[in-house]
Amino acid sequence: MTRTDPPLHSSPGSPAAPDRAAAEEAAMRRALVLAAAGPLTGVNPRVGCVLLRPDGTVAAEGWHRGSGTPHAEVAALAALDGSAEGLTAVVTLEPCAHTGRTGPCADALVAAGVARVVHAVDDPGDASAGGATRLRQAGVDVEGGLLRDEGEEFLRRWLVAVRRRRPFVTLKWASSLDGRTAAADGTSRWITGAAARQHVHEQRAAHDAILVGTGTVLDDDPSLTVRGDAGELQPVQPLPVVVGRRPVPADAALRRHPRGLVETGTRDLEAVLDDLWRRDVRSVLVEGGPTVASEAVRRGLVDDYLVYLAPTLLGGPRTALDDLGVGTIGEQRRLRTTSVEQLGHDLLLTARADDDDRRADDDRSDGGSDR
Ligand SMILES: NC(=O)c1ccc[n+]([C@@H]2O[C@H](COP(=O)([O-])OP(=O)(O)OC[C@H]3O[C@@H](n4cnc5c(N)ncnc54)[C@H](OP(=O)(O)O)[C@@H]3O)[C@@H](O)[C@H]2O)c1
Repeated sequence: MTRTDPPLHSSPGSPAAPDRAAAEEAAMRRALVLAAAGPLTGVNPRVGCVLLRPDGTVAAEGWHRGSGTPHAEVAALAALDGSAEGLTAVVTLEPCAHTGRTGPCADALVAAGVARVVHAVDDPGDASAGGATRLRQAGVDVEGGLLRDEGEEFLRRWLVAVRRRRPFVTLKWASSLDGRTAAADGTSRWITGAAARQHVHEQRAAHDAILVGTGTVLDDDPSLTVRGDAGELQPVQPLPVVVGRRPVPADAALRRHPRGLVETGTRDLEAVLDDLWRRDVRSVLVEGGPTVASEAVRRGLVDDYLVYLAPTLLGGPRTALDDLGVGTIGEQRRLRTTSVEQLGHDLLLTARADDDDRRADDDRSDGGSDR
């Protein structure tokens, strides 16, 4: 789960690229690789930046390493040996125009003398957007939309969160082949094998918070910690959140969670997500039982589905989801599979709502962030 820095590209002496478009596209692909070295959790987007010389060779690279550290563009400028005069900045997200914990990147690029800026994704933020306009006003040549689809997909979690002003929601369950998540007596440990369960720990580490209902707490007494192969606690622990009216028992394992516990005392999922947004939570892994999972689906709050399918049969009524209000087959909630992976003897199916792309288009017209 630890990330290593991406190896630096050799810069001076690289052969000149045949033309500007090819050099900029290659640089954008590299910028996306750099961006992926940043942290997946937290309030900030993962951004990468490559500074190109007029001959298309790479002058410097940078990426954002997390909240409070320099943004990708500033990191690339800091890594530069010499002047940025006349360079092109190729950056995965439109440079920001606001002062947060660091200064506006658009101003830093102008001050450094960068001649051209190429970005993949427009900044959807209320406060941070406007960088392209600011750059143009300062005489910088700006082009947006290079590899936009790849950039949007890469930044999907952050973009969904800022556009909907609520955390990105991943719903996870582990079920038998016949879609059951527990046996008749409510026991569910374990349906999947060790590889799938370890994968769940990695998914926990990739979210800011984990959410369950009181039913799961009372039935399973989960610790909701991120643990390694040998059961050891990992350094990064998402915030555990319990929804529901009943209190979490005083001796529950969750009471010993290293991050403490958010006990909401409510069934109102939207209110809980709103509260979590205000606590700077940008992604939530829902690991609740069928009651909470179904409520999240019914309310259209699920962005990604992670379904761990074990080759086992449980039968009975304890299905992964209960009533979704689908009265007839024409009303089914069709999902789109985005990946299928084998984990030991189990399968992990990742999916999203079939209308997710349309919703993203709708979102693009409103939404906001405070990057
Ligand atoms: N295989 C898996 O992936 C998996 C994962 C988790 C759980 N499970 C199994 O699921 C079972 C527990 O199921 P569950 O459905 O009781 O768990 P749950 O969904 O985690 O909790 C349900 C409880 O949460 C509260 N709640 C919170 N928000 C609600 C809402 N919007 N509407 C209604 N109630 C809400 C209610 O209790 P209050 O009265 O307190 O409000 C409700 O009884 C156990 O057998 C467990 O082992 C399986």
